Amino acid sequence: MSTTITLPRPDDWHLHLRDGAMLNTVLPHTTRHFDRAIIMPNLVPPVVRADDACAYRDRILAAMPADATFTPLMTLYLTEDTDPEDLAAAYASGLITAVKLYPAGATTNSASGVRNFEKVRHVLDKMAEIGCPLCVHGEVTHDDIDIFDREAAFIETVLDPLRRAIPELRVIMEHITTKNGVDYARAGGDNLGATITTHHLIINRNHILVGGIKPHYYCLPVAKREEHRQALVKAATSGDARFFLGTDSAPHLDHHKESACGCAGCFTAPNTMSLLAHVFEDAGALDQLRAFACENGPAFYGLPVNTGTLTLTKQDTPVKFPSKIETPEGQLTVFDPGFDVFWSAE
Ligand code: DOR
Ligand code: ZN
Repeated sequence: MSTTITLPRPDDWHLHLRDGAMLNTVLPHTTRHFDRAIIMPNLVPPVVRADDACAYRDRILAAMPADATFTPLMTLYLTEDTDPEDLAAAYASGLITAVKLYPAGATTNSASGVRNFEKVRHVLDKMAEIGCPLCVHGEVTHDDIDIFDREAAFIETVLDPLRRAIPELRVIMEHITTKNGVDYARAGGDNLGATITTHHLIINRNHILVGGIKPHYYCLPVAKREEHRQALVKAATSGDARFFLGTDSAPHLDHHKESACGCAGCFTAPNTMSLLAHVFEDAGALDQLRAFACENGPAFYGLPVNTGTLTLTKQDTPVKFPSKIETPEGQLTVFDPGFDVFWSAE
């Protein structure tokens, strides 16, 4: 017997599509299930100015499968040299949907990010004035802060002071990984949202480190203790409008992951919706998947829910996902949840 649920087409509020051959390979895995995604700007060089976003959007549109119904929602990468007028014009024209804040050194290609928050204060003021949301990679980068504490430290020392200084700024806490993040988002009021990834709902730090190091489970922010994963599942499945899906699907070639200095990122675009159905069913909350993946994000961003549908079907036998995907430059490994999944998505 199969069980079926039909959802509005979901959105991915945090996605890495990369560029060139990689873009061509990974984009169809997102457009198969998703109608919109917030596109991360951490290319090399980063997407800093409106012209960069326009050119990147054109490259994404050129890589779209013929039958896709997908809209890339572009972002700019905030630097200490960002021109607020260029940003405001890009937002007013609809070219960009948000701006991304990377603390310098926090993650992949974040070297051009922000070191001194005072230097971007005028840009953030402008964003608050025009209503442009700020997507935040919430980790401090100081050597003396343990990597597992970096999110909590960021909330306390950077995010909270920033939001108190500019309460009108709309902020999305990206890919939260801790109970601290969940609690802060829950108490944050209407101008605060939080995305949660698929993989952080599934793995804790043991998955990365026990029984040998597993580079394909390494991402940033790094997965934390089991109690934090459980807090994330509770938040995602609660229906609370502040929490919505941002997969942070972040493909890296296998030889860049399986390396003495492996890159951070889990590639979840191909199987995310199946995995989420499993996680939500397991939590006894399948009925909340619609809010998390299809409704809460558009509500925060002031966009309509998508009109098309996606059907999830529970099969009697496990769904077979490809474990590897070929690109012209090498192989990618698809995120392996470590358990059988019976939900297919069409
Ligand atoms: O795991 C991650 N990978 N976290 C990020 O913040 C960046 C991303 C990437 O671009 O690879
Ligand atoms: Zn990311």
